[in-house]
Amino acid sequence: MTAKLIDGKAVAASIRVQLAAEVAAFREATQVVPKLAAVLVGDDPASQVYVRNKEQACVKAGLASDVHRLPATTTQGELLELVHRLNSDSAVHGILVQLPLPAHIHETTVLDAVHPLKDVDCFHPENVGLMVQGRPRYLPCTPHGVQVLLQQSGTNVDGAHVVVLGRSEIVGKPVAMMLVQKGQTANATVTICHSRTRNLSDITRTADILIAAIGQAGFVTADMVKPGAVVIDVGINRQQDRLVGDVAFETVREVASAITPVPGGVGPMTIAMLLKNTLTAAKLAANQN
Ligand code: GUN
Repeated sequence: MTAKLIDGKAVAASIRVQLAAEVAAFREATQVVPKLAAVLVGDDPASQVYVRNKEQACVKAGLASDVHRLPATTTQGELLELVHRLNSDSAVHGILVQLPLPAHIHETTVLDAVHPLKDVDCFHPENVGLMVQGRPRYLPCTPHGVQVLLQQSGTNVDGAHVVVLGRSEIVGKPVAMMLVQKGQTANATVTICHSRTRNLSDITRTADILIAAIGQAGFVTADMVKPGAVVIDVGINRQQDRLVGDVAFETVREVASAITPVPGGVGPMTIAMLLKNTLTAAKLAANQN
């Protein structure tokens, strides 16, 4: 069996078309242009690409986008000052601080400084707490992208065993929390595995849905996958001069029933969800949600 490809690029494109219409309607009703402010510190090449892609996607959807590019030598105090300025700027609705930050900056201190109403990444503890309690203000972009791909691919999540590889704050933990919730494309039985998990393959082989988010190229091999499982690859790793996922795609696709490619799987969904959150932020500011 060769797995069906889950085309994140196509799903994201259709979401963006729908979103552009919603943005146009909001602009018409309020005369407000929703604006995302992205903050990029340093010159990490991958981050530069991500931020440029986010900026272009904003413009295409009818959103405004400012990118604040700061040198790698920026102090934590200077960065916090910028975040505070963006917090109090009523023309800015969403704030995104691109990660990773340089090592001398304490990431949590900066992320916690973003006003929760402008936290379109859903990284602020208030927003994470609301999400975990099942009353989200925002949904985190990549986990929400994964959930929508599962829904759009017709994968039955209700009662399924989902195994998440990775316990990061950005993907592993929140995607597990979202899929275990009561609700649509949720109600799963979720296992989170990480670097200290014993007998990893024994666990992954029981997964109906396997979500890989560990950042190691080709980590998930065919022998770790139950025949017929749905495999979602969140990894984006640079190998020589191409991007590869956390899943050994060519061999795993012969075992799985459906699989996301890298690139063109989860990545484009993250951006689509960021645009959606930026519109939500503008609606919250205008009390139009
Ligand atoms: N770096 C890698 N992924 C992300 C993300 O989703 N948001 C931000 N702000 N930085 C990232």
